[in-house]
Amino acid sequence: MFSFSSLSPKIKKKIIGRDREIDLILSVLDSGKHILLEGPPGTSKTTILRAIKDEINVPVFFLTGNSDLTATKLIGHFDPPKVLYQGYTTDNFIPGPLVMAMREGGILYIEEFNRIPEDAINALITAMSEGEISVPRLGVVKARNTFRVVAAINPFDDVGVERLSRAILDRFCSVKLQYQSKEDEIRIVKSKTSCDDEWLIEFAVEVVRRTRMHPDLRMGASVRGAIDMVLIAQNLKNLGYDGLELVREAAITGLRNKVWVSEASEKDADEIISEVVTELYLERTGIEEHLKKTSVK
Ligand SMILES: Nc1ncnc2c1ncn2[C@@H]1O[C@H](COP(=O)(O)OP(=O)(O)OP(=O)(O)O)[C@@H](O)[C@H]1O
Ligand SMILES: [Mg+2]
Repeated sequence: MFSFSSLSPKIKKKIIGRDREIDLILSVLDSGKHILLEGPPGTSKTTILRAIKDEINVPVFFLTGNSDLTATKLIGHFDPPKVLYQGYTTDNFIPGPLVMAMREGGILYIEEFNRIPEDAINALITAMSEGEISVPRLGVVKARNTFRVVAAINPFDDVGVERLSRAILDRFCSVKLQYQSKEDEIRIVKSKTSCDDEWLIEFAVEVVRRTRMHPDLRMGASVRGAIDMVLIAQNLKNLGYDGLELVREAAITGLRNKVWVSEASEKDADEIISEVVTELYLERTGIEEHLKKTSVK
């Protein structure tokens, strides 16, 4: 019999770290249950699902939740011109991702799940709890036994998990993903940039990690920020930039849109990123120590 967990070693080979989370996700899928993944941006949610997709024989449908993802879009619709000439036949129904996932026993992966409208959530509740939905003029669509819903949300989002009703939460098991360890983030940045400047990689990772603890930021940057910062810095270096200017320009350009400044802060994103980079640069280059010594004299 097919088991998601048997894929664990292959999936782990494709992903840096995350062994525990992969085991939890596969165990929930093997239990026949649906998963709500909760984690800030860049914490491997999509990466894990893509790795699962590459290893299984069932299709995975990737969707991003927004207010346009209505129940009709999820379920599907009849093709109007064909209906005009041929009527409501099964062949004239254009299935949406929910119906496709149910029929094919696939995984429906919905990011930004808390942004989808109520009617779409209700359609999902029925599919998840009954294993079937009734579509007007088409009839009952039954889910094959490998059908699963995996939803993902970002806990920093304006409308978080509390926006989701008890009814939908009750149908999900929960896997939380925290930011990766520093070592894993360094490995991820290395693998995504092919950069061989160890100093720059560690520097970029430390910058994004410091933004996450910064009192003026409601949300700091993810590993995606460190990847972008390193890629930009490499190109700026080729254009002749170096030193503090190089890392500061790369950081501001790469991270500006990825951090979320607190309403109470009097600084803007550029100032905060610039301060973080400057402080770290002085620490790393030892200039700070030098300044301290010279000011004592
Ligand atoms: N564990 C990992 N192994 C390898 N690459 C990773 C890992 N985690 C993240 N990445 C890389 O970091 C980037 C962001 O990861 P990913 O898209 O999986 O995050 P996410 O949790 O889906 O974020 P979001 O909430 O913004 O959708 C991707 O480029 C991905 O390749
Ligand atoms: Mg994602």
